[in-house]
Parts: sequence; C-alpha cells; structure tokens
Amino acid sequence: MSGGAGYIGSHTVIRLVAAGHDVVVVDSFANSKPAVVGRIESLIGGELEVHAFDLTDKDKTEHLLASMPFDAVIHFAGLKAVGESVEQPLEYYENNLESTFSLVRAMRRHGCGLLVFSSSATVYGPDAPLPYREDYEPLVATNPYGRTKVMIEHVLRDVAHIDESFKVALLRYFNPVGAHPSGTIGEDPQGIPNNLLPFVAQVAVGRREKLAVFGGDYPTADGTCERDYIHVEDLAAGHVAALTALAASPERVRTWNLGTGTPTSVLEVIAAFERASGRPIPYEIVGRRAGDLAQTWADASRAADELGWRATKSIDDMCADAWRWQSQNPLGYPDA
Ligand code: NAD
Ligand code: UD1
Repeated sequence: MSGGAGYIGSHTVIRLVAAGHDVVVVDSFANSKPAVVGRIESLIGGELEVHAFDLTDKDKTEHLLASMPFDAVIHFAGLKAVGESVEQPLEYYENNLESTFSLVRAMRRHGCGLLVFSSSATVYGPDAPLPYREDYEPLVATNPYGRTKVMIEHVLRDVAHIDESFKVALLRYFNPVGAHPSGTIGEDPQGIPNNLLPFVAQVAVGRREKLAVFGGDYPTADGTCERDYIHVEDLAAGHVAALTALAASPERVRTWNLGTGTPTSVLEVIAAFERASGRPIPYEIVGRRAGDLAQTWADASRAADELGWRATKSIDDMCADAWRWQSQNPLGYPDA
C-alpha cells in the first residue's frame, strides 16, 4: 500500500489486516507522521512493515517491488490540498503523476497486476448532473489537484487497455470524514485545515475561535453547500470489497463511487458536531469560496450492486468518532 501512513490509508490497513491480508506500506511521510505507525500496530496487534521513501524515486520503488511478490497495490500516496495545488502546480503534477508512473512500471515489471487507485469526486467537474454516476463523461477537473486525478485515471485505463495482466479499480471518494472508533487514529491536517470537518473539530476543541461558513446564499434548503460525507471506516471497508471484486473481475478497468448517496449541508454538519461534542460551534457566514459547487453527492448504487458494499454510518457517527479522535489528540499525532 502506498500512502499507508496517511488518513485513509491508516484506516484501510486495519481493515485489510482484519480481512486476512498481509500489508506492506510505503510512505514518504510528506503529509503524515511516523507516530501513526505505532498506533496502527496497537490496533492490529502486531508489527506493520513500513518503508519510508518517496515513490517518485524509481530505483527504490523498483527495488521494493522486486524484493517480494505483491498480489496487489492500493495507491493512496499523493498530495491532496486543492489551494496548494493552485499555488504549486508543478509539485502536484510531479508528485502525483511521477509516483504513479514509477509504481505502475515497477508493478508491471515484477508481475503485480492489480491496482486500486484513490480517485475523487472532483473528477466529475462542475457540469455533471446529480447524483454523480460513474458513466459520466467527460471528466473535467477545475484545479491542478483534480487534474492529476483525471490524468491518472486516463493513464491507468490506457495501461490496462494494452496489458491484459493489469487490472485497475478507480475509486472515486466523496468527502471522507470521521476516525477509527478507538479515537487513536484520525485525520491530522498540518496547519490550518482546508476541509470542513477538521476545522469544526478544532473549533470544538478550542484550537480555533470560530468557523467561517463559505456562503449562505446557495440554492439549497438552508443556503449552505451540501456534500456527501462518508465515514472513513466505511471507505476503508469499500477498499477491501473493491480489491476482492477486482481480483475476480473479467473486466480490466472498474470504476466505483464510494459515497453514501446522501447530501448534508454545512449547517447540518455543525449541528451534528454540536450534538456529538456537547459543545457550541461558533460560526459566521462569509462569502463563497472560489471553486465550490452548491451540491455534490454520489449515486452509490453501482458499488452496492457490484461490490455488495454500502456505507453504514450516519453523520452523527462520523462526528462522534471525529470528536473522540480530536478530544483525545487535540494537537494530532506527536512529532516523535
Ligand atoms: P493523506 O495526505 O493523509 O495521505 C497520503 C499519504 O501519502 C501521506 O501519508 C503522504 O505522506 C503520502 N505521500 C504523498 N506523496 C507521496 C510519495 N510521492 N511517495 C510516498 N508517499 C507519499 O491523504 P488521504 O486523505 O489519506 O488521501 C489518500 C488519497 O485519497 C490521496 O490520493 C487523495 O488525493 C485521495 N482523496 C482524498 C480525499 C480526502 O478528502 N481525504 C478525497 C478524495 C480523494
Ligand atoms: C474539497 C476539495 C475537493 C476535494 C474534497 C475532498 C475544494 C474547492 N475542493 O471539497 O477537490 O476532493 O475537498 O475532501 O477545496 N467549508 C466551510 N468552511 C470551511 C471549510 C469548508 O464552510 O472552513 C464548506 C465548503 O464551502 C464546502 C463544505 O464545507 O461547502 C465542505 O468543504 P470541504 O471539506 O473543503 O470539501 P469540498 O468542498 O467538498
């Protein structure tokens, strides 16, 4: 697994081990801390093999893939901050694309033919009808981060097209939130959080004074944006299901939305977090954030039909688990 020390990867390691898989992690710790490894090990009750290097290093990637047989790779590694990608496009294209090229080359050379890729609902772009369906085209993202996802989807399709021993699952995540129910692993953004849930959690714990709600005049029931928030535990389970289905699949490219199919507004998230934490979340409605869409949510039926997977956890579960993580780890993971 690449990016296994990150937010979604760390939760997915636990699910995979519980399902009987042997997991090896590569992570550069560009956006995560080594302290997560011990937390994962406590939860799985054993050691986790972790290789700390950057996947854009072709030699190291090649060396690892040559060192033991891998049945499959789940590729989470990537940079993911939309605003930062606008400021640093080259770094985003380089990291996200080169790491994928390096990984896919090494996989093909060493006979590993199953790849599960972390794509995003952002590939649907601003014009796709709601709810988003996997068969929508053309994929058009509106920022460099999103364009790396669109490009990588195309690259992986093209490779699977010419290589009959290579199969790929493109998983389009909606808005992953929440944490492991133990409260020992969770989302640990560096600096000021860009995303709603971590910001709300930091307001609740007293690290930030109040939330700025970006726009109160959208054409939605309460005027704030609506998103399809999905518990990271449900998302992790979706990866295990996708891996199993891909291995058995006669088709070489499969695409699945991983979402709940239910939109929730910013004000509804605030109310749910207040219930979960028992604390008020002070907020102020400010101007819209550039690039935001009024509403996005998944048509989750293909994953339900083909994977037998569906999200099970409610927005109250997501906030309760995010709060447990945040209140037990107000400053996130320790540095050392
Ligand atoms: P994350 O930043 O917590 O985890 C990504 C991990 O990859 C980090 O630990 C980072 O150190 C590592 N990494 C980055 N570049 C690397 C490289 N070149 N070599 C080795 N390791 C590298 O992010 P996450 O939220 O867990 O997201 C995982 C994946 O899912 C990403 O590809 C992201 O774009 C995608 N995704 C995330 C969301 C979300 O909201 N969290 C939504 C849609 C898609
Ligand atoms: C953002 C990214 C998207 C990425 C997704 C993954 C942008 C423009 N889009 O989407 O590419 O795939 O994260 O998680 O960054 N909000 C506030 N105040 C805040 C933060 C957010 O009101 O401080 C609102 C936003 O306007 C939005 C909602 O909360 O309506 C959710 O925001 P966020 O968590 O950033 O997710 P997305 O906007 O869906």
